[in-house]
Amino acid sequence: MKAVFPGSFDPITSGHMDVLTRASRIFEHVNITVMHNARKQGQHLFTLEERMNILESATAHLSNISIDSFSGLLVDYMHLQKRSIIVRGLRAVSDYEYELQIAHLNRQLGDVETVFIMAATRWSFVSSSMVREIASYGGDVTEIVPLASAEALKIKFAGVARP
Ligand code: PNS
Repeated sequence: MKAVFPGSFDPITSGHMDVLTRASRIFEHVNITVMHNARKQGQHLFTLEERMNILESATAHLSNISIDSFSGLLVDYMHLQKRSIIVRGLRAVSDYEYELQIAHLNRQLGDVETVFIMAATRWSFVSSSMVREIASYGGDVTEIVPLASAEALKIKFAGVARP
């Protein structure tokens, strides 16, 4: 079976990598789909192209993975690609309500199933937003993101005056 792993990936973290690696062992193929919304473009740290380049580099060692992007409803993407399984990671109970809501809505809207993979406890506190914040203040994120993300963050914040 082939699955879709959707997200913003701004940027991909070690938590995403953990879920993705484990999904790649379960499913025949996993498509990472960077969901983007032109109206929200300014809200991201990395452009769509940058996020996809980071993903390409971070997942180069995984053979049954591909990467693309989509603007619109996830269920529309699923139908276009003829996929019916969405993979999402769950870190803690705090993720549950949001994930429950979108899983139910996606099933209602498009008859697609969501499969959850529990992120390893070691990454349960890691989110892209926290990673962006730490990196923006010059903090070390090398333990909690893949190398490609760490390097891209370094370049992004190089020369930015810190408060
Ligand atoms: O990495 P994120 O930000 O947690 O990913 C959330 C994402 C992009 C998977 C979700 O917001 C999404 O699917 N957006 C596409 C628009 C959509 O289908 N919305 C309805 C979900 S009920």
